[in-house]
Amino acid sequence: HFPPLIAPSVLSADFSRMAEEVIAVERGGADWLHLDVMDGHFVPNLSFGPQLIKALRPQSGLVFDVHLMIAPVDPYLEMFARAGADHIHLHIEAGPHTHRSLQQVRALGVKPGVAICPATPPEAVAEVLDLVDMILVMTVNPGFGGQKFLTSQLDKIRTLRRMADATGRDIRIGVDGGVDVETAALATAAGADMLVAGTSVYGQPDYGRAITALREAGRR
Ligand code: DX5
Ligand code: ZN
Repeated sequence: HFPPLIAPSVLSADFSRMAEEVIAVERGGADWLHLDVMDGHFVPNLSFGPQLIKALRPQSGLVFDVHLMIAPVDPYLEMFARAGADHIHLHIEAGPHTHRSLQQVRALGVKPGVAICPATPPEAVAEVLDLVDMILVMTVNPGFGGQKFLTSQLDKIRTLRRMADATGRDIRIGVDGGVDVETAALATAAGADMLVAGTSVYGQPDYGRAITALREAGRR
């Protein structure tokens, strides 16, 4: 799918004005809103939970793309679904029962995605591909915004694109971490069709211009 979808990550927004920050990227042409949930256990940082997502839900018509960097994940899935998540990405590394967790996401009426860390080989998601609508390839080690894009992950994107296409189903491949106008072009050339962007949207003076620049950079 081209141009790629752009999903600004509110992790880099001004937390004291969160609703305005969400409305601003919606006006700026964002496709999805990326919401990074961190538990200080699966990743070495804390962010926010379902309360914030629930509070933002009536403020925005954007697709809420929730990235769970938490373990365990199962006890919280229903909470995030009720809070208004349209998508839930959970990590293949978050526990031994990703298969069941993804089925649970689907049963809750939410689109399931599987996220994969830099150290994990692409084959690790082979057995859950039939359960997901999206794959989220981490191009940084998750936990913080503003890190450098790992070009070592481009091969993984290419491999996952082949694996996804071989299913015959429509599976989006998102890239998360260090996305800017240069790395956006590399990621989409490798087969990504969704770009998460924290710093390169919320760190810019004009969000609309930043979103358009990423979309254009990712056009093939
Ligand atoms: C990293 C998060 C990302 C983060 C990206 O753990 O999953 O979504 O917000 O931030 P940037 O775009 O600044 O690398
Ligand atoms: Zn994320």
